[in-house]
Amino acid sequence: MFYVKVAFPSDCDGGPSEFVGKLMETSIEPMADPTIAEERVAFSVRGLTKVYGTGAAQVHALRGVDLDLHEGELVVLLGPSGSGKSTLLNIMGGLDRATGGTVRFRDNELTACNDRELTTYRRHHVGFIFQFYNLIPSLTARENVALVTELVAEPMPPAEALRIVGLADRMDHFPAQLSGGEQQRVAVARAVAKRPEVLLCDEPTGALDSATGIRVLEALADINQTLRTTTVVITHNAAIAAMADHVIRFADGKVASTETNPTKRKASELSW
Ligand SMILES: Nc1ncnc2c1ncn2[C@@H]1O[C@H](COP(=O)(O)OP(=O)(O)O)[C@@H](O)[C@H]1O
Ligand SMILES: [Mg+2]
Repeated sequence: MFYVKVAFPSDCDGGPSEFVGKLMETSIEPMADPTIAEERVAFSVRGLTKVYGTGAAQVHALRGVDLDLHEGELVVLLGPSGSGKSTLLNIMGGLDRATGGTVRFRDNELTACNDRELTTYRRHHVGFIFQFYNLIPSLTARENVALVTELVAEPMPPAEALRIVGLADRMDHFPAQLSGGEQQRVAVARAVAKRPEVLLCDEPTGALDSATGIRVLEALADINQTLRTTTVVITHNAAIAAMADHVIRFADGKVASTETNPTKRKASELSW
């Protein structure tokens, strides 16, 4: 296992290509014991607030969120609709900006990044998976994955990413020829093919029945295990918490509780 120390983003004024150059020349420190990696904090969130709108129409979506997520963890973020889960994930993924407070990813304060730095962060470090798969209908599974791998320096071959999610025999199918669960697994392959350090999944099983949803969760757990990708899964489905290393309950724009899960279950053992 390797920990890649990245000079990012404060000295990356030259944009993505300069950043990739820096990434390739940075030191790689071997880490003998993977358990040490898991204790490193990947994300540190402090006093995070988000207010949408102005005046009477204001919505306080986040009301002071504090949390630490560790490298390599599979975290389930559980909470009712409207509690601020997506808002938090979007800020952690560099898709949206906070109103107040800080988010750090490793040594980088995301809340201090400019737009270009956030674009670089999203492109090279984060894989996103949303409830709806957002595949391009006129491209095959392989081509949908290949679109993303063209943007990064050392991607996984699209065929390998599709194999990881169990779609080796569906690579040349179009989205309309795939079930919902298979389409979502293409979306997982697309997110993973750029070898992100972080996978952010917003209701990845929200549009699926339980059997196909569980296959998607199995793919996510497998990726978390084998690639040690720090993974956050948002859900309002409490059954999914059983597969997490760490469960964060969200309510009314705040963390209501955090707990580690000593009896982590396989995704295949879940039911709802
Ligand atoms: N772009 C937006 N503009 C205004 N209000 C928003 C916006 N996005 C989310 N909200 C509001 O912020 C609150 C939290 O939303 P969200 O983070 O989507 O919650 P969750 O993902 O837990 O369902 C909700 O009241 C929602 O209506
Ligand atoms: Mg949401």
